Amino acid sequence: MFEVGAWRMPSVKRLLRASVAGAPVVVRQRRDQDEAPGRPRHLAIIMDGNGRWAALRGLSRTRGHQAGVLALPRVVDTALEEGIEHLSLFFFSTENWNRPRAEVAALMRLTAQLADVFRGYGERGVRLRWLGSEARLPRATLTALRRAEDDTRDNRAMTLAFCFNHGGREEIARAATSLARASADGALDPGLIDEALFTRHLPHADLPDIDMLVRTSGEQRISNFMLWRAAYAELFFVDTLWPDFTGEELRALLTAFGARKRRFGAGVGPV
Ligand code: FPP
Repeated sequence: MFEVGAWRMPSVKRLLRASVAGAPVVVRQRRDQDEAPGRPRHLAIIMDGNGRWAALRGLSRTRGHQAGVLALPRVVDTALEEGIEHLSLFFFSTENWNRPRAEVAALMRLTAQLADVFRGYGERGVRLRWLGSEARLPRATLTALRRAEDDTRDNRAMTLAFCFNHGGREEIARAATSLARASADGALDPGLIDEALFTRHLPHADLPDIDMLVRTSGEQRISNFMLWRAAYAELFFVDTLWPDFTGEELRALLTAFGARKRRFGAGVGPV
């Protein structure tokens, strides 16, 4: 098990208590997706740029993550206000274990605290979910993530997914393992495996495809994030470093999403 080292940052609880437990947000009435085609049902964000934000100020990467934490309530509140059904945030990838040991330890600790504090969003009807692998996670992080899921399981205003120790390929491999097991047990005819059945064997199978995927910090890649569900996501790459990302910028991106023409391979215009 990975050891969580000493970490000299103010506790996330102190940083975020006021924001998470703040005044109730006005949640926009959610309409049927058919009536509101311009709004994403599932918004996912690759929160990139904490390290560069810190380097520009001569601060440590850990300080950058601290600043990144403060951007979270702005984004969660805006998503709630905009009636987003599912918000997925990329916190740590299966490849991020290759980062410096002290940074990994800081992120493990930070996420345990965040999961704890974000249970406060339960009062606003937010359901917290964790998408990721248990492999190598410290017990404290695992426990906090599980408890956040358990405490908010019945909430329906919005799903907030912590994509933590998450890998798109790892998820696909898990679905393949599950299908192979069912086939070996004789419970499934392998000839019947199609996309719909495959999707049902993914972890959190009920989570819909991503409609809108935002990555901050100017990088233009997906970095192994939710590969199966991102198949037809509209991609938005913005230069803003994550700690500077605001609710207003998210609203502007949501407007831009509304102007996109999604075709899903169907083509347009006269034949
Ligand atoms: C992919 O970039 C991005 C992620 C896995 C997100 C990582 C985000 C954090 C560590 C910050 C967590 C957020 C807060 C608020 C603390 P990558 O750098 O892993 O992949 P790349 O090498 O392809 O760019």
